[in-house]
Amino acid sequence: MKGIILAGGTGSRLFPATLALSKQLLPVFDKPMIYYPLSVLMLAGLREILVITTPDDRPAFQRLLGDGRQWGIALDYAVQDRPRGIAEALLIGRAFLAGAPVALILGDNLFYGQGLSPLIRRGIAAAQSGEGATLFAYRVPDPQRYGTLVFDATGRPVDIVEKPSEPPSSLVVTGLYMYDGDAPDAAGDLVPSARGELEITDLNRRYLAAGRCRVERLGRGFAWFDAGTHASLLQAAQFVQTVQDRQGLRIGSVEETAWRMGLIDDTRLGALAAPLRASGYGAYLNDLLDEESDGGVG
Ligand code: DAU
Repeated sequence: MKGIILAGGTGSRLFPATLALSKQLLPVFDKPMIYYPLSVLMLAGLREILVITTPDDRPAFQRLLGDGRQWGIALDYAVQDRPRGIAEALLIGRAFLAGAPVALILGDNLFYGQGLSPLIRRGIAAAQSGEGATLFAYRVPDPQRYGTLVFDATGRPVDIVEKPSEPPSSLVVTGLYMYDGDAPDAAGDLVPSARGELEITDLNRRYLAAGRCRVERLGRGFAWFDAGTHASLLQAAQFVQTVQDRQGLRIGSVEETAWRMGLIDDTRLGALAAPLRASGYGAYLNDLLDEESDGGVG
């Protein structure tokens, strides 16, 4: 199983903040936005991850994330020269995937909640055993902004409508998608929508129609944000700050995730923390080591 983070697009709903900087590099409170989806893929156990960016932004992503070795993972890069749709990520990533199943996550999506890893791991196991696709659904008050699920009388998901003016339900498809090895071929069969994009919703509808799509609900215990507008970016940042302040633990720290997953040792974590010491973030990483030696980290 391999991962793809789609971090292209124009970020036009965040203009002028994104005129000179990729949306997915903007901070969500104390760390770049892309740390959040990256740490989700790492928590899910993925080690080979492709980061898709615009051609202009690629050097900045590489400066930030490098080749991933410092975190015990392998990062590759590819570009999408124009936003031709989320499903195009599977075509751009075809050679990287080389037939492997994939977890595709949007670079502006933030997931948080107890039990997220097991839920995601179930999706991975399904994709690995050729079960098709797994989608993660979330209840929102504004489903007209998203891919919205349609259910039959027995409560079975039967279709998805992209940005419906009259939403058929309030359960929407979040930006984390898992597919078996057939996904690039299936994406290659899609035709661009009226807005000229290869729609991920069209791909998901195919898996649903073929009876090869699982839908996992992210229930009350989860928070999900797409930080794509000024308001949602601020809300996501405030959420992160509130949870972190209350718990004394950070959300979306790739260094901490790598360390807790056993991908890096104490010495490496210390070395990663040292240059960041001037910020609360670096101090936090350093404190993890101290607390551990005190037996305090749970
Ligand atoms: O966030 C979940 C939603 O994401 C789903 O519910 C929708 O079904 C799905 O279509 C998508 O809706 P958005 O309106 O949020 O898609 P948007 O065009 O904003 O793209 C989402 C992210 O993907 C954005 O951060 C930029 C990136 N992107 C998008 C496209 C279309 C790319 O990197 N390349 C692209 O070609």
